[in-house]
Amino acid sequence: MNILVLGRGKTGSLVAEVARRRGHSVQVAGAVENAACAALTPEKLRGIDVVIDFTAPSCVVGHIEACVAAGKNMVVGTTGWHGEVDRIRQLVENHGTGFVYAANFSVGVNLFLEVARAAAAALRHDYSGQIFERHHVHKKDAPSGTALAIRRVISESSGEKKDQLEITSFREGDVVGMHEVVLESAADRIYLCHDAKSRQGFADGAVRAAEWLAGKKGFYDFKDVWREL
Ligand SMILES: NC(=O)c1ccc[n+]([C@@H]2O[C@H](COP(=O)([O-])OP(=O)(O)OC[C@H]3O[C@@H](n4cnc5c(N)ncnc54)[C@H](OP(=O)(O)O)[C@@H]3O)[C@@H](O)[C@H]2O)c1
Repeated sequence: MNILVLGRGKTGSLVAEVARRRGHSVQVAGAVENAACAALTPEKLRGIDVVIDFTAPSCVVGHIEACVAAGKNMVVGTTGWHGEVDRIRQLVENHGTGFVYAANFSVGVNLFLEVARAAAAALRHDYSGQIFERHHVHKKDAPSGTALAIRRVISESSGEKKDQLEITSFREGDVVGMHEVVLESAADRIYLCHDAKSRQGFADGAVRAAEWLAGKKGFYDFKDVWREL
């Protein structure tokens, strides 16, 4: 495929490397080339099969609007915009493009979400719950999109209110991403933890999601499709 990666940062550069290794033709646009969506005009996107975005919360919605208007499929890893997910879903459906997004593209975290979903039963048995997340000091959004996704699956599964679980965010050194769920009763504590060792899992998942999306239309959450990769 011809892939345009948006973002030359920590994750975008690894996505480009993984995509080339998997045999794709890859272009990359960073903040300078893509100021005010300059790299996302219909002419510039001609010949591109899919755009993969790992940029920043402040610009990602503009990128999505430009790519969808140009009829291009997208894989979006950038976080911090999920409050607009319903509007973007509508936009994608209106334009008949394909779109996969995730707060976390690693298969390990998506398995972890299922473990958390199962453990949420504790909240119906006199347990209280807390979520802790740790990331590097440069991370722009807090709480992390993954922590919000964990809270969402736990509240969906337990039937408890969405805002009930407290999320505590730590920003330390160069931590790639650690998420913990602690469930506590008078009798015991349950600890669940996912600790990303590198960004490799995010990059692999995003490129494989782009391959999965080829020839498809529709709006997909990676947590619902990763088993099909
Ligand atoms: N879903 C997942 O699995 C996952 C995994 C990791 C990270 N993320 C998310 O992905 C995003 C990026 O994370 P990161 O750790 O890679 O951050 P990062 O190292 O800060 O990289 C962000 C890059 O975006 C570039 N950028 C900013 N505005 C741009 C624009 N308008 N067009 C093109 N590029 C632009 C920046 O370019 P300059 O260097 O030129 O300023 C920077 O290199 C964050 O929202 C993070 O939460 C998601």
